[in-house]
Amino acid sequence: MRMDETLQDIDALFEAALGARAHAYAPYSGFAVGAAIRGARGGLFTGCNVENAAYPSGTCAEQSAISAMIGAGETRIAALAVIASGAHPLTPCGACRQRIREFAEAATPIHAGSLEGARQSFTLAALLPEAFGPAFLPGHKQP
Ligand code: THU
Repeated sequence: MRMDETLQDIDALFEAALGARAHAYAPYSGFAVGAAIRGARGGLFTGCNVENAAYPSGTCAEQSAISAMIGAGETRIAALAVIASGAHPLTPCGACRQRIREFAEAATPIHAGSLEGARQSFTLAALLPEAFGPAFLPGHKQP
């Protein structure tokens, strides 16, 4: 947790993620996921997983929250929470860690939760060390 993020902030993020999870479209896996992002300017953006009969066409909750954020004109993630059912707090899949990296810092908090109450907080760097990013591309500067 970053010093400028309160426990109430984290609770609010999980509440928003749970609200989005209620709309998950997951008829194939039966695994509903919700995600919420707090943008750098304080906005809240949510998403859920949206599966498809053509399985690889499905999208993750984090991906959908990022789309909502970008569509609203925010480009930086201050914090992200993701939640699903299970004994362990749900951590973002590998592809979503990379998607988050595009709009977040090494120290950005990623809060993982389970409906059963387990929670764990990570930095993005802990989940995606030595990450590929724009600095690897010629002509592109950080972030
Ligand atoms: N899923 C997410 O939405 N986020 C994750 O971080 C892990 C997996 C979704 C994708 C698929 O709809 C279902 O969970 C089962 O993998």
